[in-house]
Amino acid sequence: MEIRIRKTQHPQPKPEDPRKLGFGTVFTDHMFTMDYDPQQGWHDAAIVPLEEIAIHPGAAVFHYGAEVFEGLKAYRTDDGSVQLFRPADNMQRMRNSAERIQLPDFDPDFLLKALLRLVELDQDWVPTTPGASLYIRPVEFCTDIDLGLHAISRARMMILLSPVGSYLSGGLKPVNILIEDTDVRAVRGGTGYAKCGGNYAAANRAAAKAERRGFDQVLWLDGVHRQYIEEVGGMNVMFKIKGKIVTPALTGSVLPGITRRSCIQLLRDKGYEVEERLISVDEVMASLESGTMEEAWGCGTAAVISPIGSFAYQDRQFTVNNREIGPCAQDLYDTLTGIQWGRRTDPYGWIVKVPKP
Ligand code: PLP
Ligand code: COI
Repeated sequence: MEIRIRKTQHPQPKPEDPRKLGFGTVFTDHMFTMDYDPQQGWHDAAIVPLEEIAIHPGAAVFHYGAEVFEGLKAYRTDDGSVQLFRPADNMQRMRNSAERIQLPDFDPDFLLKALLRLVELDQDWVPTTPGASLYIRPVEFCTDIDLGLHAISRARMMILLSPVGSYLSGGLKPVNILIEDTDVRAVRGGTGYAKCGGNYAAANRAAAKAERRGFDQVLWLDGVHRQYIEEVGGMNVMFKIKGKIVTPALTGSVLPGITRRSCIQLLRDKGYEVEERLISVDEVMASLESGTMEEAWGCGTAAVISPIGSFAYQDRQFTVNNREIGPCAQDLYDTLTGIQWGRRTDPYGWIVKVPKP
């Protein structure tokens, strides 16, 4: 399929102070869009100026939340080129998410080609400021005009680009986590492993409670026993306990993070023993109390490596590593971001270069 390209006549000014970018409120000049219906399949693939879109108010996405998305980044290297990190993994995860919601499948090679073409066109927007990058947000949603509950037949795919700084306002400053004991985010057999909007809507109430109480993020427990650690709002979680790295197993209710997968590989290659297993909140609290929890951090595309400074659960709160980033998280951060920004060689084949314009 051809990708039609219509360039903007009104290029927008780039953000004046890229250090103040924040996350996800500034967008580039162009976006990718294509539509699906059962007669034509995917069609009308186009890169067009970023503009408002007209969607019928009866579209099922507004009523029943049929939507999946992805998140990845383009990084500016010291030689001025632009590169992506494991983008094919995002394409595959988006297909898995779409399958869960029964949105139409797509050709991952084609979507990656479209994504590369879009980033190539808007590559002047990839920030040069240290730590800043271009966040890439593919999204697929149902456009059926239908208030009945029926199988999905029409959909739209879009890719948006947003220059971003730190997702968490403190950057590498350790975050304070509230372990949520009432609401749950996902259950096995539900949509936890899929990156779909509903999971994030279901998280809002606990996130608001945590914020009101002065915490930065929520740590979710499993939906059945309310006992096993799952993940943080937008990140997977890792603990260093007695020298070993422990991270929750992918039981079906946890998002299979691409950063998580990369961290596990990097840590094993650095000689750490990494256990992917069930880890209970009691084990976490006991290791915090006894001082055997040496470090803890979250990991994700937006959040990168985010050290955890404290955990609160019910009426107890403990700090981790004196609220400082620990040596293992720092080393992991340096290695991961080194590969992403092209300052370290990539022995894994994770990097995909964006062609120069
Ligand atoms: N868990 C959740 C709920 C997320 O939203 C994210 C972010 O994408 C992650 C984990 C980390 O996944 P990844 O490393 O692929 O960005
Ligand atoms: C990402 O890291 O890409 C995410 O989608 C997390 C989101 C909460 C910003």
